[in-house]
Parts: sequence; C-alpha cells; structure tokens
Amino acid sequence: MNTISSVDDLKATVKTLKGQGKSVGLVPTMGALHEGHLSLVTRCRAENDVVVVSVFVNPTQFNNKEDLKTYPRTEEADKKLLEAAGCDIVFMPCAEEIYPEPDNRIFKLGKVAEVMEGAMRPGHFNGVAQIVSKLFDFVSPDRAYFGEKDFQQIAVIRSMIASEGYKLEIVSCPIIREADGLAKSSRNVRLTPEMRKIAPNIARILSESCNFAKSNSVAATQQYVIDSINAFDGMEVEYYQIVDGISLKEVNDWKDSSYIVGCITVYCGDVRLIDNIAYLK
Ligand code: PAF
Repeated sequence: MNTISSVDDLKATVKTLKGQGKSVGLVPTMGALHEGHLSLVTRCRAENDVVVVSVFVNPTQFNNKEDLKTYPRTEEADKKLLEAAGCDIVFMPCAEEIYPEPDNRIFKLGKVAEVMEGAMRPGHFNGVAQIVSKLFDFVSPDRAYFGEKDFQQIAVIRSMIASEGYKLEIVSCPIIREADGLAKSSRNVRLTPEMRKIAPNIARILSESCNFAKSNSVAATQQYVIDSINAFDGMEVEYYQIVDGISLKEVNDWKDSSYIVGCITVYCGDVRLIDNIAYLK
C-alpha cells in the first residue's frame, strides 16, 4: 500500500495507473475507520483495478468547532486496517495541502441539501461538496463509494455531480451495524458506557416502526419513533423525518411515494448519532 500525503503525488500516481488502462475506485473517509468503512473498501476492491482511500478530517464541513476538535483520529490503526482490506493508495493529506487558500466556492446543491442535516448544520453540505469535488478532481475515479448511514449525504453528492458535470458512478453501500443493531459510526467511541447501552434502542425502535406503520399514518409513525426514543433518559431526538428517498421531501401519506425513508438524529448524551430506515411496501 502506497501512503501519499501530497496532492501532486496523488495526481501523478493515479495518472500513471489510468494510463495503463486501470479503473480507479475512490472511498472518501474521515478516518477512525470501522467495519462500515471497510465494507466500502471491500466493495471498491471487488469492482476496480485500483483502490484509493482518502483519510482527511475535513474542517470545512464542521459547523461546530468542538466536534472538529474531538473527532477521533487514529491514523496508524487506519493504515493497518486499509492495508489488510486491500487498499492500494491511502491519501492522508494535511489541511494546508487541501486548502492552501480558503475555499470560497458555494455549490448549487438544490433542495436535498436544505432539509434535515442541511437545516440543522448550516454550511455542512457545502463543506462536504468542497472536499468531495476536490477529491474527484485529484483522482478522477470511475466509481466513488459512500455509506447509506449518511443517507442525505449521498443525495447531496448526486446533486453536486449533476450540477458540476462529473462523470462517475456513485455506489451507495448498506449500513453496517453492531451485533446489537447500533449503526457503526466513528462517533460511537465517544458514547459513555451508559449511553452505549441504550443507543441500540434507536435502531430497534426504527425497525419496530416499520410494523407500526402498517396500521398507522405517517404522522403517527413519526410521533411513535420520537416519543419511544425520548422516553429513554439521556436520549433526545433532534429530528425524525419521513421522506421520499429520492427528493427527500416529507411525505404525508404512505401512498405518496414507492420509496420512503425515515431519517433520524438523536443526541445520546452529548454525542449526535444518525440512522435511517426504509419503509418497505
Ligand atoms: O462521510 C464522511 O465521512 C465525510 O462526509 C466525507 C464524505 C468523507 C467527506 O469528508
């Protein structure tokens, strides 16, 4: 595995490989890797000649300085995991390498970026678009891999690709969960032992709500999820929205769409967790 920290080296290395006719897959990450990320790397390995993984905690997507400061950083462990997962190139730049000057670009991300996370974390998705577009420019991947835990992020990246005219395939990969159902997240390590114990109730209640939904309205199902989670001491739902899986517009009736997804964020103590579930017909 080749570890690269400079943009010029990355571009030159990928250019040589592409010149040899090799297909290139990219897995953008912020490190603190877990099995969720590794599932993306495994899929990327299976579908491309060359696997590039970026590990970069992107400052422009954090609207909360404390969150940026406390975001876990485990670079040496990440390298070992990536090597074992068959990564060819790990790109680990410093912030100055990516942002030698401030990035003032404002992306046209459309309505999908305005709701839910977009409303709660102003500027977050523009920051994601800044780093992801830079990575696409550096690597020109044939395919890029993203996890469905960040369901809205995938919709926003698809929108960015359409507006910027990138030609690549976005591959969305299913959420990987702990044995007790908690969605794997780099933030899980920040949960206190008490919060770690109750956090799996998020996934359990989302899953149970699919059954509840069969004989209840969208509004009642939304309320059921919010009330059931808020009943746990220390957990507080920030939002639970039941939306069309493509437009991310809220649905009022189960008949409004053939692809409906519930997206949640919950404060577990002071750790903000996200998860989602598809309501299958
Ligand atoms: O999902 C993430 O970890 C980040 O938002 C991403 C896509 C790597 C951009 O920094």
